[in-house]
Amino acid sequence: MKQFFVLNQENLDLSKGEVLALTISKKCKLIDNLLILDNKEKLDRLAMTKSIYKLLFITTQKQLIKKIKSFDWQKEYKENFRIRLHHFTNLTEKDLAKYVYEKIKNPKVNLENPTTSYEFFFVKNKVIAGKLLYELNEDFKLRHPQYWPEHHPSGMKPRMSRCLINLTGIKKGKFYDAMCGAGGFLIEAGLMGFSVVGYDLDEIMVRRAEINIKHFGIKNFKVKKQDATKIKHKIKYLATDLPYGKSTRKLNRNEVYLAFLKNLKKILKGTAVIVFPDFSPYKKLIKEANLEINREFSVYIHHTLTRKIVVIKQ
Ligand SMILES: C[S@@+](CC[C@H](N)C(=O)[O-])C[C@H]1O[C@@H](n2cnc3c(N)ncnc32)[C@H](O)[C@@H]1O
Repeated sequence: MKQFFVLNQENLDLSKGEVLALTISKKCKLIDNLLILDNKEKLDRLAMTKSIYKLLFITTQKQLIKKIKSFDWQKEYKENFRIRLHHFTNLTEKDLAKYVYEKIKNPKVNLENPTTSYEFFFVKNKVIAGKLLYELNEDFKLRHPQYWPEHHPSGMKPRMSRCLINLTGIKKGKFYDAMCGAGGFLIEAGLMGFSVVGYDLDEIMVRRAEINIKHFGIKNFKVKKQDATKIKHKIKYLATDLPYGKSTRKLNRNEVYLAFLKNLKKILKGTAVIVFPDFSPYKKLIKEANLEINREFSVYIHHTLTRKIVVIKQ
C-alpha cells in the first residue's frame, strides 16, 4: 500500500532515516515533509513522524476539484467522515466536503472523532490527498530525564533515544547499550517491548540505570558493570552514546573511542548506532577500526556541540 509519513521538520534527514530503517521498501519520494513509500506494517513506534496516511492521489491545485469529483470516496469510507486541509490554501474544508459528500451513500459527518479522515496537503503546487491511518502522539515529556528518580545531566531526551533505537532497525530480539549511563536508551527500548541489556564502567551509573529502568515498570532487563571495550559476545542491535563530558580528556577520549570501535568490529553482527561529538575525529577513528559508515546524521545541540549519529552495519 502506498502510504505517506508526515515527518517532524526539525531534522528532516533524521526523520526520514528513521522511517527507512524500519521499512522494507527503500524507494521513496520526499515532497516537503511528506515521505511517500510502499509500506503495510504498522509503525506507531516512530519518534520523528507525526502521522501516517494511505495515499489516495496526488494532483495539482488546478486539477483538484475535477479529481475530487471523479474519485471513489465511497470505497475508502467507513461510518463517518471529515475533511481536513493542511497548509495555506484559499479553499475551505466545506468547499471540498460538498463534493465528497455527493459521492457517498448515506454520508455522515463527524468533525471531532471521525472514523474516516480525508486530508489534503497543499505542498509545492501539488495537492496530496490521504486517508489518515493513525497519529503518533506518544507523550515523551513524562519520560524526560528530569523526571527519572536517578537523573543525570548526560541523559538523552526520550524522543531522540527512541529514534536512535529505531535506526538500529530492531524488530525483535535483544537491544544493547554498551555505555548505558543512567539508562535512557534502555528505558525507551524496554518500553518498546524489547529485552534490554546495558553496560557501564561506572558502578554508580549501573545502579542508577537499574533504579530508572525499574521506575518505568520494565521487567525484561539486565545492567551490569562491564568495560565496553572488552565485550566478548556477539551483538545484533546496539545504540551507544559515547562519553564526551569535559572530564573525559581529549587524548583519553579518542583512545576509548578507538578501543570501543575496534572491539565493535569483532562483536557486531548487525547494526550499531553510535553517537559521537562533532569535535571528535570520528571518521578517522571508524576507518582505523576497519569499520564503515552506512549512514550519518547531524543533530545540533548548542553552539559547542553537534551530535554525529553514525550507523554501522556488519
Ligand atoms: C554519555 S553517557 C551515556 C548516556 C546515556 N545514553 C543516557 O541517556 O543516560 C556515557 C557513559 O559511558 C560510560 N563509560 C565510559 N567509558 C566506558 C567504558 N569503557 N565502558 C563502559 N562504559 C563506559 C560512562 O560511565 C557514562 O556513564
